[in-house]
Amino acid sequence: MTDQVGAEPFLPNGTSLTALRDAAADCQGCDLFRNATQTVFGDGPESARLVLIGEQPGDQEDRVGKPFVGPAGHLLDRALAEAGLDEVPRYLTNAVKHFRFTIAERGKRRIHQAPNRGQLRSCLPWLRAELHAVRPELLVCLGATAAHAVLGQDFRLTEHRGELLAAPETMAGAWQVMTTVHPSSVLRASDRDKAYQEFVRDLRLAADYLSQTLKERNDYDNRP
Ligand code: URA
Ligand code: SF4
Repeated sequence: MTDQVGAEPFLPNGTSLTALRDAAADCQGCDLFRNATQTVFGDGPESARLVLIGEQPGDQEDRVGKPFVGPAGHLLDRALAEAGLDEVPRYLTNAVKHFRFTIAERGKRRIHQAPNRGQLRSCLPWLRAELHAVRPELLVCLGATAAHAVLGQDFRLTEHRGELLAAPETMAGAWQVMTTVHPSSVLRASDRDKAYQEFVRDLRLAADYLSQTLKERNDYDNRP
């Protein structure tokens, strides 16, 4: 644990997503860069209205270099479409940008391991910089790790799931925050249909909010 300097010294001078992505490729802010294949930075346009945050890249994301390209990402895409969010420009990212895993005792399979608090803290400057660049109307935290990264360790996802909250000062690039479950938890749920429907219900709340902000924006732009 001695080499966790955090991402701060690796931040670039520029604040565009391209500058951030290039710099993040060389981040050594915590020990996770050592074993992972590459940094998996966020993906999407700077004009995104919605930012979705997961935990960390998984096995496939680590190989491909993009967030949410594996099974959890497929489920997420389907749920976003069903909630009416497929037309809303979005930016996908993770609380931690390197894959943390252990190797199975027999064989070479890489087993996902949740990032620890120190790693989460180390990686946070990247997330803040992404939010600063994108300034989304809504930030959706997928699962407890993302929720803790954004709203603090005391935040209880089960109590506040689906609620619209003001973005904390530390995440001031975003307007509002909403938390829901992680798509992987839907894949693991014993009643998968029910878990999926509840996930889509939360995302519909996000869609409602975004259509409301768009209306307010249009009303403002078209004021007499
Ligand atoms: N799970 C995550 O939290 N993020 C990804 O990018 C993929 C799976
Ligand atoms: Fe840097 Fe984050 Fe990767 Fe750690 S996990 S090395 S802080 S990009």
